[in-house]
Amino acid sequence: MSNVNPNKVESADGKLGVMIVGLGAVSTTYIAGVENVRQGSGKAVGSLAEMATARLGKRTDERSPSIRELVPLASLDEMVFGAWDPVPDDAYESCKVAGVLNPPHIEPIADFLKGIKPMPAVFDTHYVKKLEGTNVKTGKNKKDLAEQLRADIRNFKKANGCDRVVMIWAASTEIFLQPGPAHETMEAFEAAMEADDISIAPSMLYAYAAIMEGIPFANGAPNLTADIPCLLDLAREKKVPICGKDFKTGQTMIKTVLSPMIKARMLGLNGWFSTNILGNRDGEVLDDPESFKTKEESKLGVIDHILQPEMYPDLYGNIYHKVRINYYPPRKDNKEGWDNIDIFGWLGYPMQIKVDFLCRDSILAAPLVHDLALFLDLAQRAGMSGIQEWLSFYFKSPQAAPGLQPEHDLFIQQTKLKNTLRWMVGEEQITHLGIEYYQED
Ligand SMILES: NC(=O)c1ccc[n+]([C@@H]2O[C@H](COP(=O)([O-])OP(=O)(O)OC[C@H]3O[C@@H](n4cnc5c(N)ncnc54)[C@H](O)[C@@H]3O)[C@@H](O)[C@H]2O)c1
Repeated sequence: MSNVNPNKVESADGKLGVMIVGLGAVSTTYIAGVENVRQGSGKAVGSLAEMATARLGKRTDERSPSIRELVPLASLDEMVFGAWDPVPDDAYESCKVAGVLNPPHIEPIADFLKGIKPMPAVFDTHYVKKLEGTNVKTGKNKKDLAEQLRADIRNFKKANGCDRVVMIWAASTEIFLQPGPAHETMEAFEAAMEADDISIAPSMLYAYAAIMEGIPFANGAPNLTADIPCLLDLAREKKVPICGKDFKTGQTMIKTVLSPMIKARMLGLNGWFSTNILGNRDGEVLDDPESFKTKEESKLGVIDHILQPEMYPDLYGNIYHKVRINYYPPRKDNKEGWDNIDIFGWLGYPMQIKVDFLCRDSILAAPLVHDLALFLDLAQRAGMSGIQEWLSFYFKSPQAAPGLQPEHDLFIQQTKLKNTLRWMVGEEQITHLGIEYYQED
């Protein structure tokens, strides 16, 4: 990558369609949130695109534009929303079922929310066990279903007068799948779709449809989805930016802040026990061992990647890491996540850190959906395609080029994100070297 973006970033004029797979707690909290912000009845707290600044030049220059001033982003008023869901509830009903937002954030925008009705989904209980759906597409085979999704995208774009569209998977976590021969080449993938091969999950059909239609795609769940060679190749070929997987919101966000701290000080780690209670539909789906396995893999990878036990065997060679998610209906979307961390210091003396995060899952996830929609659209207008590693900031299992270690440290991810924004518009990178403030010219 050169130090200067070879492409001019195209303007963000015109309408941006945000097509979301799944119209559940995260999606409705996000969509209703945008409408509340547009109406002036709330602020987009947690969104870098709406709240953050990026310093340019030297600290003494005092140039810190907002991100919206730095790069051209779609305006809130130009955003329109669509969704697919096997449950036929419109966004108003679904928002009430999710129980995240209070009536003052729902009732005044009831008509807007009622206008968002989910399109029939590509859905199969083999991949998400604990759900029943009636709003489901039928077709000759999986290829036919993917073609129906492509038609949905084209129709949505036309009906809403969109100039550009992005797609975000905020649907339930599918069962654990590993890349196999059907995912190697587009030829094999298309043959597998036609043969209704079991290794082709619904989420892959959405990702395929998006990429074929030239639409950026983000995966907010830990499913394999677009993290397979044929779709990665297709994204490059069609010049489509993609990113994933699994929104980094609560416990893992904390993990990717505390682990770098432990490592930065060269303290040791014996064990990390994480447990959660959660009572929303996501919690219910994750109560199925096969969906939980997908989530577990995503949550477990983080510590090893950050601490690099192979490089520091004395400190991290023998870590016991356990993650639990317990479905506990009374808590609804208000998850409680406990962490017990057994660390050791000088001469091996043990110490403990305890964290109890009483969070709200969808309140933390909604701004991530917003940033991803805006930044993926920006990436496409900046001529970028394939995996967008600069968006790792938003994910528990960031996609990275084959053979490349993903970056998990939240603050390195943040630096990478802001430096990429600077790079896009030809501003200098910030290295944090700082020597220039102390050297005589
Ligand atoms: N909230 C968070 O902090 C967070 C963090 C990381 C990941 N996630 C992931 O985001 C996803 C959404 O979370 P949520 O709390 O909104 O869950 P939710 O259960 O409220 O909503 C998911 C929706 O997806 C629908 N769905 C399932 N399969 C589908 C398909 N094939 N096509 C279209 N729709 C489908 C379901 O019917 C449901 O309405 C989950 O996979 C969750 O694991 C959430």
